[in-house]
Amino acid sequence: MQNPIIVALDVPTTHEALELAKELGPVVGAFKIGKQLFVSGGPDVVRELKDTGAKIFLDLKFHDIPNTVAKAVQSAVEMGVDMLTVHTSGGSEMLTAAENASNEKAAMLGIDSPLILGVTVLTSMDDANLAELGIQEGTQGQVVRLAKLAASSGLRGLVCSPQEIKFLREELGGNIQLVTPGIRFESSPADDQKRTMSPVEAIKAGASWLVIGRPITLAESPRAAAIDILNSIDPELVPSD
Ligand code: C5P
Repeated sequence: MQNPIIVALDVPTTHEALELAKELGPVVGAFKIGKQLFVSGGPDVVRELKDTGAKIFLDLKFHDIPNTVAKAVQSAVEMGVDMLTVHTSGGSEMLTAAENASNEKAAMLGIDSPLILGVTVLTSMDDANLAELGIQEGTQGQVVRLAKLAASSGLRGLVCSPQEIKFLREELGGNIQLVTPGIRFESSPADDQKRTMSPVEAIKAGASWLVIGRPITLAESPRAAAIDILNSIDPELVPSD
């Protein structure tokens, strides 16, 4: 089993991100760079984190016309990111353009194409918010619709909430990679997360990767927190040195 922990580096500066990456690199699977860190640190933060040997998940949630998204994806591939996100509500043409652009650029560079993850319905949206947009069938129906659209457009992965893992596995089978935030130990504060699951529960439900931020980054010892999580999932994941 791969190390499934992706640490969300939700910090304001490249310096803080690199400090965390140095401490956590050996005990986690990847680092997620979101809008806050990317807007402050730019492509350099991606390159500097990549230089530590870490896998990089660039979470910028692209959503635009197909050509613009394809070009942004190609720039991300050039930076060497391993995972990136697009909004599935951009539609099948945009999703296929993203996947094709990634494959073409990666082939040109002789590297692996990153895993493009589709974001379905943001967990900040509820049924009433969707109704405001003219979508009447509720969040679960819309999540399934968009997840199927992503898969049929060629995407190999999705971001989903812990509660969506089970039914997305049932709908889409075992091959799709499911990346899940909203992870908390029963003992840790939920912060602003409303529907959480423990790391081991999420893995048992079928998650491929766990996005974990504050329970690791704000811990007294981030490294010890990550090791505790690995131990709870499978002690064999803990590196021996
Ligand atoms: O600190 P915490 O573990 O809550 O961080 C979770 C990370 O996952 C944050 O970067 C957050 O933006 C992201 N995320 C989320 N819920 C989603 C999608 C992304 O918490 N539905």
